[in-house]
Amino acid sequence: MLVAVLLSSLVLLVTMLLAGCGQSPAAASKNAPPPVPTTPPAAPVKATEPAIAPERLAAARELLVSKGCIGCHTVAVFPEAQGAIGPNLTHIYTEAANALASQLYKDSKGVASTPREFLRESILKPSAYVCPNCPSGPCPDHVMPKDFKSRLTPEELETILDMLVTFE
Ligand code: HEC
Repeated sequence: MLVAVLLSSLVLLVTMLLAGCGQSPAAASKNAPPPVPTTPPAAPVKATEPAIAPERLAAARELLVSKGCIGCHTVAVFPEAQGAIGPNLTHIYTEAANALASQLYKDSKGVASTPREFLRESILKPSAYVCPNCPSGPCPDHVMPKDFKSRLTPEELETILDMLVTFE
């Protein structure tokens, strides 16, 4: 009788020890915390794809038409915008950044310190800095209208700028 009790408690002890230490890999992974879901890395934005909401881009594009900008400016990706009197705006953000860093700009009346400010200034005060390169030679002053401050609402101006800054 005593032997039987000892024996069964020994079996119990061994079972407990095994259960405690010798977990099978399957049991271990069952108790492991669920894997943290990882969000897949966002696809890189293509340089040719403007980082602007499509409806905002469409609104800006319409403003180029309704405000007459397309009569003088080209935007290569817009077939309706092929004006050749003022500078080509296809890569105007990059050109604005370069112009801003130039001696010509430093010597001008321009006071912008970012490409976006440069573009705002170009539209509101075209004579502050007259772009040197137009399709048919040096740009003339007094051709880019000077009254857009009254012809564009602040919101319309920002919409156009949101688009122009994507033209890298
Ligand atoms: C009658 C022709 C004409 C119209 C209309 C016109 N522009 Fe211009 N634009 C020019 C000329 C010419 C220049 C270059 C002279 C200067 O920098 O002031 C110029 C310069 C610019 C520049 C600066 C370019 C640079 O490389 O520095 C921007 C930006 C610009 N225009 C945007 C616009 C926008 C936006 C509109 C419409 C809201 C518009 N323009 C309407 C003729 C025009």
